Order: sequence, then structure tokens, then C-alpha cells
Amino acid sequence: MTKVITYGTYDLLHFGHIRLLKRAKALGDYLIVGVTADDFDKTRGKINVQQPLMERIEAVRETGIADEIIVEEYEGQKIDDICRNDVDIFTVGSDWEGKFDYLKEYCEVVYLERTDGISSSEVRDKRRTVRFGLLGDDSLLNKVRMEAGFVNGLQVVALCTNRIEVMGGELRSVDIVTDDFDEFIKHVDAVYVQSLPAKHYDQIKKILEMGKHVLCESPITLNQEQCRELFLLAENKGVILMDAIKTAYSTAFARLLLMVKGGEIGEVVSVDATCTSLKILEDRHQNVWEGIYGWAPTALLPIFRLLGTDYHDFKIVSRYADGEKNRGDFTKIDFIYNHAVASIKVGDGVKSEGELIISGTKGYVYVPAPWWKTDYFEIRYENQSDNKRYFYQLDGEGIRYELVAFVRAIERGRSMSNIDQEVSCGISEMMDHYVRGTNMSII
Ligand code: CTP
Repeated sequence: MTKVITYGTYDLLHFGHIRLLKRAKALGDYLIVGVTADDFDKTRGKINVQQPLMERIEAVRETGIADEIIVEEYEGQKIDDICRNDVDIFTVGSDWEGKFDYLKEYCEVVYLERTDGISSSEVRDKRRTVRFGLLGDDSLLNKVRMEAGFVNGLQVVALCTNRIEVMGGELRSVDIVTDDFDEFIKHVDAVYVQSLPAKHYDQIKKILEMGKHVLCESPITLNQEQCRELFLLAENKGVILMDAIKTAYSTAFARLLLMVKGGEIGEVVSVDATCTSLKILEDRHQNVWEGIYGWAPTALLPIFRLLGTDYHDFKIVSRYADGEKNRGDFTKIDFIYNHAVASIKVGDGVKSEGELIISGTKGYVYVPAPWWKTDYFEIRYENQSDNKRYFYQLDGEGIRYELVAFVRAIERGRSMSNIDQEVSCGISEMMDHYVRGTNMSII
């Protein structure tokens, strides 16, 4: 029996794929099709793949051509697959001509002529482009613009800001640059909201009411009821409202949550997250976000994702530096749950080790600083020889994949967020406690 193997992404399966699969099958008696996993695909720069892995596998299965479907998950897997499955022929389309000659050591390599006039990229390009507007006064928007450049179906067309001086040349040269919110909103389909948190509620409400989508730098609001109201409004208007915390889109972070939820460290007893960055005083006095708003959503994310938002007690301690009225530059929040505790330390006037530690009854997870840009973590046990280390690629600090999730959500008309509404509302509620000074001590 002659065994043939071929690999591909098979996004939005088209007749070019089907013709390739048929000819691959005809080269032998048994065809194995390797479908590229989402994460592996990112490393090839194909971040705009539309369909999740399971949908792509299902589409290949439905053709009835493959005898076996496997998932391609890592670099170098092809050699393993060929040897393990006793494969006689490796084949792909002629767009890869020469690229897989190194496999000739293991089996025959055949390049089949690619079908002209069709590709997944073209099918994707025919989709409507979302006209994206950026709203806010922080230089972070430069990064958002740059990352948007990697995302198919999204084009930054407008900027609304009061601090043009912190925006880079590329951002300054988008079609519409204004400080007039009403003018700005007319020109876009979707907005990245990065204005001061106190302005979010009114701005988001207005944007949603106009039937436009919102990706908002967390916290969405400084009040839980308002947050729920906005999610409901988005639903009624049939538009997307998504919380933006880039860490939620880091593969390493997503994997570590899955492992912890899967019981890898036993029962979770404590989650402790620290995020700090020293800002120069001048910056702190500009209308930039204060430390608690800038960092608390990120620090709260692992806590609320793992333990939920149903804590029964909490205590806030905030440091007000001399001469900085009503502005905490360091805040510690402790939570008590029924069977666990948690804490965050955040701020922009005090420096600490930016690590994340999740303690469990069998072991603990350690994510070194800066854990919020995580591409690496360790699971550690009493017996050190059982310790495991995990690495995952992280491009664009997660912003890129956050934008991909946003565009997909707009196209599909349903949320594709890695942060569920309960977590977003929980974050807003905690900000409300901070603003009101509930259970809070000042030092
Ligand atoms: N293929 C082909 N003819 C096409 C498109 C793809 O023969 N018109 C082949 C590729 O050479 C590869 C397989 O189908 O062997 C899977 O290709 P994939 O990369 O998933 O699809 P593309 O349409 O090439 O995707 P993209 O546009 O994102 O590169």
C-alpha cells in the first residue's frame, strides 16, 4: 500500500484545495492530511485564518477524500509523521516548490501544480474591510495601529486624540485626524477606545447607539451596572463590545489557564499577580491613566478567570504619594473566596517583581516578570525533577490576536472574546469600589 501525506491550513476550503487533495490521493492508496493548528499557523504569519481548527478539520473530512486527518502542531513534525506512519510520498502544491526537498531523505517528495486563480487569501480579501478608528491620548495607540497592519480585514482610517504630539508619523497620516469625537465617529465602523476610563461609559454608549463596534481598553467602565448596560445595548444593537486586555490573547497565558483548570496543580488556593511600571512624574500628571486603571484589569484577569468574581470579602490599600491628591501610585487588593485567596499589587509609582504565582495543593505555576507579556511559564512541584517548562510564541504582545478576535467577532456577529462578560463586569465593579473608597485604606 502506498501512503501519501499532505499538509495545509485549509481555511475557507475552496476548489484549489479539493483539486490538490484529489490528486494527492491519486498518487497512492491511502491519504493522510495534516491540518495546521491555529497556533502553529501564527508562527507562519497566517494570523488571519478565518476558521478555527475544528471547522477546518471538519471541512476536510466532509470532502471524503482523506483517509486520515492529523493536526500539525509543531515545527519539525513532518519528519516525525513520515517516519511514524511509514509514508511513501509527501506532496504539496507547487507554491512550495523546493521548500520540502529536505524530506527526500525520508520519502518521495512530489510538488503538484497549484490551481490558478484561487487562494484562501483572496477569498479572505473579498470580505469587507472594517474601517477602524482609534480614540485616546496615549502613545499605546501607535502599537495598536502597527498591530492592526497584520490583521486582514481591518484598516485604521481615523484617529481622535487631544495629544497628537505622542502619536507617531504613521498614525498622524491616517485619513481623519481630529479631536472632535462626533466628527470622528462618522467615519468608522469600529472603535478602539483608549480614552480615560471616566469617559468610557458616555463614549461607548454613543458609539454603540450608532450601530458601531467597540474594542475598549479595560476597564470598560468604572461601574458594574454601567458595564452590564453597555453589553446589553451592544446585544440589542447587534454590534460587538469587547474588553481589551492583551494578555488574554497570549497563547502561553491561555494554555496555563487550561492546565490549571485541568487540575495540573491540584486545587487552586492562591493567585497572586503583580504589575508595576514606574512612570516619570510629568507623565503621571498628564491626563494619562493612573496606575490602578492601567494595571488592575490585567492583574485581576488570572484571578477572575480562575476563581470567578464571587469573592466574599476584599480589602484595598492604596498609597497616595505626597502632593498627588486623589491619585494612588501603588495599590494592593486582597480577596477572600470560600476556598481560596488572591491578591494584586499594581502601580506606577512603586517598582516590584512583575510575577504571577498560582499556588495549588499539588504544585504551583510560576510566570516570571513581565508575566503579562508571557511566552513562558513553569509548573513546579515538591519534587523538582517533576517541574515542567512551557514556551509559546507571542507576537505583538497579544494585541494582534486580540484584533483578530475582534474582526472575527464582527464578521460572525457574535463575541469571540477571551474575556467573558462576568470578568469585564467584575473588573468594572472593583474599579467602582476603588473610586468610592469601599473597604479601602490610604497609606
Ligand atoms: N493549493 C493549491 N491550489 C490553490 C491553493 C492551494 O493547490 N489554488 C494547495 C497548496 O499548495 C497546499 C494546499 O492546497 O498544498 C493547502 O493550501 P493552503 O495554504 O491551506 O491554502 P492557500 O489557498 O494557499 O492559502 P493562503 O492563500 O492563505 O496561502
